[in-house]
Amino acid sequence: MNADASVVKMPGLIDPHVHLREPGATHKEDWDSGTAAALAGGFTLVLAMPNTQPPVTGAASLEMTLAAARRKARCDYAQYLGAGPENAGEVASLAGGAAGLKMYLDQTYGPLRLDQMADWRAHFAAWPKDRPIVAHAEGRTMAAVILLAALYERPLHLAHVATREEILLIRLAKEKGLRVTCEATPHHLFLCEEDLPARGLSGGRAEVRPRLATAADREALWANLEVIDCFASDHAPHTLAEKDGAQPPPGFPGLETALPLYLSAVAEGRLSLEDVLMRCYTNPRRIFNLPEQPETWLEVDLQAAGEISAGKTYTRCGWTPFEGWQTRGRLQRVVLRGREVYHDETVLAAPGYGKNIREQG
Ligand code: DOR
Ligand code: ZN
Repeated sequence: MNADASVVKMPGLIDPHVHLREPGATHKEDWDSGTAAALAGGFTLVLAMPNTQPPVTGAASLEMTLAAARRKARCDYAQYLGAGPENAGEVASLAGGAAGLKMYLDQTYGPLRLDQMADWRAHFAAWPKDRPIVAHAEGRTMAAVILLAALYERPLHLAHVATREEILLIRLAKEKGLRVTCEATPHHLFLCEEDLPARGLSGGRAEVRPRLATAADREALWANLEVIDCFASDHAPHTLAEKDGAQPPPGFPGLETALPLYLSAVAEGRLSLEDVLMRCYTNPRRIFNLPEQPETWLEVDLQAAGEISAGKTYTRCGWTPFEGWQTRGRLQRVVLRGREVYHDETVLAAPGYGKNIREQG
């Protein structure tokens, strides 16, 4: 085989679920480091979650985070709005400028959480039907929110599906014709709770929401791969000092480890390259109504062996639950809107090069 036979071109990937921590926790990540990590991971477009400090729940907080993004982002992006108990009208009026609406219906990191079903209904009634809603809803909460979305006759995207019960519920909902889509994370696809001790992940380092599930749950995700519309990293950086502290926040970083894990699964024959493109490009574009990024592509060497190491990453959090993982398949180059933005393990895009794909006017 000649040296370049294993190098393929792919479209710039989309990660519809990342936490970039600015404003409020820029020691964990900011728009600069988080979007550099995205490019180093092959993602040219990321959708940023609203559980920042302050959370993005209205016009003022949206402008605050977008002002930082405008100055600092190295890849393209859009920002989610967060659903709160009092803001259904205000966020709906801002829908056109946002990635979508995020509804936190179960325990997570930060104060955004909707406990009352009346508040879910207010958002389902007010938010435009042709704009995305993403729900963090686990187990029985997922069943409840699928029903409510169906009653309001609107599409719903379910974040980070983690268990057999959840993926089978979504399968059934799809079979009944409900407009439900979902995503799975690399950590729920490649790790399970039984792996934690061997990976040296104990105490706060093991904390993530949804929790890592059983090996049977993980295998149920693979067995129902066709039900999973998107792969999403749920990149949730926290420092090791915080993870090892008294009140460890849940979350794993994921932007820079996702693609090597997917490509390794391709090398092992567990996924096809088309499976990856469908879930990291085609489906996210359709579900979140994202524009094409012109002259944007990746060069990937499908055969190159590697090893995951936090020492090489751009994320500010400085660790990865996949430390030491042997991989096959490496990102060589990223071109975004005609410019080389990543090459030879180096991010070349300057802060501010990234565009808000929902910018209006
Ligand atoms: O583990 C998690 N971390 N799950 C979430 O839902 C939020 C995230 C974060 O923001 O840290
Ligand atoms: Zn998340």
